[in-house]
Amino acid sequence: MYILCPVCKNKLYLNERSYKCINRHSFDIAKEGYLNLNLKNSKNTGDNPDMIKARKRFLEKGYYSFMKDEVNKLLNENDSLVDLACGEGYYTKDFICKDKIGIDLSKSGLKIASKADKSTLYLLNSIFHDPIEDKSADKIITIFAPIADKEIVRILKDDGRFILVRPDRKHLFELKAAIYENPYLNEANGIVIDGLVLEKQIPIEKKMVVKKKDIQDLFMMTPYVNTTSPADKEKLKDIDDLKISFAFLIDVFKKPN
Ligand SMILES: C[S@@+](CC[C@H](N)C(=O)[O-])C[C@H]1O[C@@H](n2cnc3c(N)ncnc32)[C@H](O)[C@@H]1O
Repeated sequence: MYILCPVCKNKLYLNERSYKCINRHSFDIAKEGYLNLNLKNSKNTGDNPDMIKARKRFLEKGYYSFMKDEVNKLLNENDSLVDLACGEGYYTKDFICKDKIGIDLSKSGLKIASKADKSTLYLLNSIFHDPIEDKSADKIITIFAPIADKEIVRILKDDGRFILVRPDRKHLFELKAAIYENPYLNEANGIVIDGLVLEKQIPIEKKMVVKKKDIQDLFMMTPYVNTTSPADKEKLKDIDDLKISFAFLIDVFKKPN
């Protein structure tokens, strides 16, 4: 896979500690190892350091590793893979492919990712403007993040696969029941992506006891952190070890024949 210059769209080549194109546009690699190709002064700067740290602490306990294993079954060692919205690279670093790019807008996420994982090229960029050549990825993955549909269709090879991981209906239901008066199941309707067709859907589910000390970190990873009232958030402190459903849908999309 080649990465492209965000200024003139020509190929970028590694030259010592920077990437350069034929027009001599040059981009230095940060000391942690990621490459900043984001020229836009976008308001969206991705997840903040507190969110990143909470997710890192929680994921490193292994609660979601069964989902990572399931995704790895869909990958081959020789695949070129792009992880769109890779965060701090918890999944990216363990995906079995040799040629990997992770993209995210969170600097704090990419600092952690690129320090820990030298086998992946981490790019600070919006997933809606991927600096990657057309039809070059065998696999594209998005886990719990926005779907950059047009870019996915553009960079996916004709025989490539897009793998989307999202919450299924029962995901975190017991956590919601512990804090909300009227807990609800998630919506898990089919996702339609222009230019791709659903090849298969793999639902996976596991119930696990989440330790009291991990509950707050789990909550910080969810969208509920922005929508829950202060009174309901207070209830988190009283939750003891809690058995929680982790339910994911893994959708595999391909290009139509
Ligand atoms: C819920 S997190 C998921 C991270 C990772 N895939 C995981 O499951 O651990 C969503 C991620 O999307 C990133 N993000 C949100 N909007 C983005 C955008 N437009 N471009 C790049 N990254 C974005 C955030 O910084 C954050 O790391």
